[in-house]
Amino acid sequence: MPDNDRAAGPMEGDWSSVEYMERQSRLDVLRFITCGSVDDGKSTLIGRLLYDSKLIFEDQLQTLELDSFKFGTQGSNIDLALLVDGLAAEREQGISIDVAYRYFSTERRKFIVADTPGHEQYTRNMATGASTASLAVILVDALNGVLTQTRRHSCICALMGIRHVVLAVNKMDAVDWDKGVFETILAEYMPFADEIGLANVYPTPLSALEGDNVMRTSENMPWYAGPTLIDHLEGIDVTADAGESPFRLPVQWVNRPHSGFRGYTGTVASGSVRVRDEIVVLPGGRTAAVERVIVGDADMEDATFGEAATLLLDREIDVSRGDVIAPAAQRPETSDQFQTRLLWMSDEHLLPGRSYLLKTANRYVGASVSDLKGRLDVNSLSRESAKVLELNEIGICNISLDAPIAFDPYKENHTTGSFVLIDRVTHETVASGMIDFGLRRAQNIHWQAVEVDKSVRMSQKRQTPCIIWFTGLSGSGKSTVANALERLLFIAGRHTYLLDGDNVRHGLNRDLGFTDADRVENIRRVGEVAKLMLDAGLIVLVSFISPFRAERDMVRRMVGEEEFVEIFVDTPLEVCESRDPKGLYSRARAGEIKNFTGLDSPYEEPENPEVRLDTTTLSPEEAARRIMEFVSENSD
Ligand code: ADX
Repeated sequence: MPDNDRAAGPMEGDWSSVEYMERQSRLDVLRFITCGSVDDGKSTLIGRLLYDSKLIFEDQLQTLELDSFKFGTQGSNIDLALLVDGLAAEREQGISIDVAYRYFSTERRKFIVADTPGHEQYTRNMATGASTASLAVILVDALNGVLTQTRRHSCICALMGIRHVVLAVNKMDAVDWDKGVFETILAEYMPFADEIGLANVYPTPLSALEGDNVMRTSENMPWYAGPTLIDHLEGIDVTADAGESPFRLPVQWVNRPHSGFRGYTGTVASGSVRVRDEIVVLPGGRTAAVERVIVGDADMEDATFGEAATLLLDREIDVSRGDVIAPAAQRPETSDQFQTRLLWMSDEHLLPGRSYLLKTANRYVGASVSDLKGRLDVNSLSRESAKVLELNEIGICNISLDAPIAFDPYKENHTTGSFVLIDRVTHETVASGMIDFGLRRAQNIHWQAVEVDKSVRMSQKRQTPCIIWFTGLSGSGKSTVANALERLLFIAGRHTYLLDGDNVRHGLNRDLGFTDADRVENIRRVGEVAKLMLDAGLIVLVSFISPFRAERDMVRRMVGEEEFVEIFVDTPLEVCESRDPKGLYSRARAGEIKNFTGLDSPYEEPENPEVRLDTTTLSPEEAARRIMEFVSENSD
């Protein structure tokens, strides 16, 4: 547990460098973020904090340096380790965005302040800083009052669940230390903060320039009797909330050095656990009692919030990385569908239906946005409708996972209630998300087992069903080859069905156009249909441009690897364009058709297709025979 005792500072008498370092390493760390517009005086304030705290610190460092001559070079290590720790924590989240972390300490606490640029386009940086902060200092310029930017920053703080906010009304020197100005700003800000659900707002009038109410009480504002900024920062107890929540331990690794020992290790995300507690492991649902609790190398009676602990259970049950251990009587929920709030952080916009990787508390699972319900307007706090989410936008979405996870709503638990979304191809962290609640429909809909299943149909039809997926540009010859192949299969007595893009777009998908978002949905739907037909025991031929790797791979993952045969109809754009069977290329060139694949809409070639066809050298019949050979070789 962090030690909150006030440590004696260098001015308070007898101390040695070793003792000082020990105290420093015991001080707890407050991570906070400063938010403000460009000219609010944010840099001055951070500079002031660093400068004023460094005066003490440098004094100490000098002594440390002197002692280092005698005792070695440990002197500077503490601060360096802190620096490295802070950065490592960010990396673990997979986020590398332009946020500067600064470190300083007083006698009572160490601080890590996330400093982010104030322009609107840097909202994601702010959110990144906020995602690990316990407190926000929101700066308001006394001359300008509450701005749109102040509201946006406050919204993001509320969204990221920051529970403590210092409303720093800066530049009080420029308004002659006028109490009336301070009160007018409060009269506007406080009801707004209340509306967006920001609890614990501490308004503080200050002057970063002069130092009033930053580190020392202002003599210029005798009408303000409250604490200084540093008093707030030093005094706020941010551990209380997580400490009181029910126990949660997301398992980071299963520790099995020899057959007689099996421990489950992770950082306690909230609450505490004791020896003999009855626990449950989720999402599996097995229960056991805690036999031993190990923290560091030592057996303990309990482990609590923030500690890295290893639990040994009284019986062997199946536990794997990413499972959540919780009290049997206070379980998190499990679900595979949620309502969430997403802060989109990528230049590539969110595509509903696309499969991303969701990472939460040590678990990775495939996830897609099943319903983008809207986008939050941070000024009016109202919800607008949206088809996609762009950089910095906050969306309210339903998310659907490939497998259930254990979770708590974000407002109850920041660790088990938050997640990031990662692009499967680029591995970029594209969104930061918070779970509002699990969707009940997920619990109410169960897979219905049927007696006449795929295996029965397979033996009745005497064939191994599979999906033969044709991808390639418009005019590449997909449909022609698919047709020829279906004829060959039919003659050979196979049961088949051909799903063709143009045909499916006449019915099931007639509501879809050719934007990226619509193409993703087009492929998602046809993928689901193909999967049903696969289950019906058919050999399914799918002929769609299917321009994106992510969606083709998604269908591959939806069925078995051996059931998905990807055929890349590799016809160069120039050849497709010269064939132009439907006259679409010339219309697209004339500007009559927008978003045309290969022209102003991308086509991502398959990296490892099962079969690649060069239609400039193969006739459709030859191409079909080649696929036939591949399928027969691989189906036995
Ligand atoms: S996909 O990209 O969403 O997979 P799909 O295969 O369903 O496309 O439909 C492609 C067919 O729609 C083309 O063969 C062509 O006949 C027609 N089409 C009309 N507009 C476009 C366009 N903008 N881009 C590509 N194909 C188009």
